[in-house]
Amino acid sequence: MTAIASNISALWILIANGWMQNPVGYVIRNGRAELESFTAVVTNHFAWWEFLHTVPSAYVLSGFFVLGVSAWHLLRKNELNLFKKSFRIAAIWTLIFSLYLIIEGHIHGSEVAKTQPTKLAAMEAHWETEKGAGWTLFAIPNKEKESNSFEIKIPKILSLLAFHDPEAEIKGLKEWPKEERPPVALTFWSFRIMVGLGFLFGLLSILAFLKRHNPEMSHFLMRILVLNIPLPYIAVQAGWIVAEVGRQPWIVYGVMKTKDAVSPLSEVQVGLSLPAFIIIYGILGIICFWLIVHYARKGPEPLASTSTFKEKLTI
Ligand code: HEM
Repeated sequence: MTAIASNISALWILIANGWMQNPVGYVIRNGRAELESFTAVVTNHFAWWEFLHTVPSAYVLSGFFVLGVSAWHLLRKNELNLFKKSFRIAAIWTLIFSLYLIIEGHIHGSEVAKTQPTKLAAMEAHWETEKGAGWTLFAIPNKEKESNSFEIKIPKILSLLAFHDPEAEIKGLKEWPKEERPPVALTFWSFRIMVGLGFLFGLLSILAFLKRHNPEMSHFLMRILVLNIPLPYIAVQAGWIVAEVGRQPWIVYGVMKTKDAVSPLSEVQVGLSLPAFIIIYGILGIICFWLIVHYARKGPEPLASTSTFKEKLTI
């Protein structure tokens, strides 16, 4: 029940976020956006693509977490039967969602190209409008010079990936005034980190799947899977940086700027509430991290022997 409820909760959060990314079903009345069509908001295609990407990315994270913890115990020969089983289940689960994420991520990228051209241009550090645009493998974006100081490009691939046509036109950042462009380097590199990790996860999940029947034999893979545990967390954060930093300077894309959405708070209110949030969430984060590491390393409680089990039943 908790798992189902969390997934549904994620859907509503992403419908709200999807509206900020691609506002639909509203009218501006008396200077504010008012709901006109609930159906349009709930069926917003951008929100659904976000849902279909974000929730499975959490499944990939959980899958690699179980694989990593299982590998840690298998390397130490703890509870072999239990951890071989958890490894096997997680290997199948992770393979499905890692490969799915690469395919769906590509479709998601095409949606961004259609809906948020400034975000696409920042994701690709693409400055000049061009037909048959190349895909930038590596670049050092230079905001002042409005170009990349250094870049490695593969011709035509960006047009092909974004619009499934190698000759399609991709608008460059220079099409928009400077104050309407997102931060380029952060968006560009976050996108590269997420996609790079996405392909690494695809490879690791294939290897884990192939070794699922006797994972304890592959020490090298087991060590890599333990080291891999933090990487899906980084991929998820990088994904959100692409989605949110890439949307700037808009809080609601094309409708309202982030600077116009700032609440009228005094410096004292911000000066008190911000450190309070940082301290409380910092403490909660440390406790949570400690608990996860503690219980993951501890492994399961030993199974009660038949006699104690019977005794407990009698009691
Ligand atoms: C090859 C693989 C991938 C591709 C092509 C891809 C594509 C994308 C795109 C285009 C966005 C931006 C969408 C927007 O602005 O709303 C995005 C966002 C995101 N990505 Fe990825 N992604 C990939 C892999 C991953 C992986 C491996 C994870 C995490 C395990 C991940 C987690 C996220 C998250 C949490 C977001 C923000 C929410 C959203 O916009 O859907 N992605 N991804």
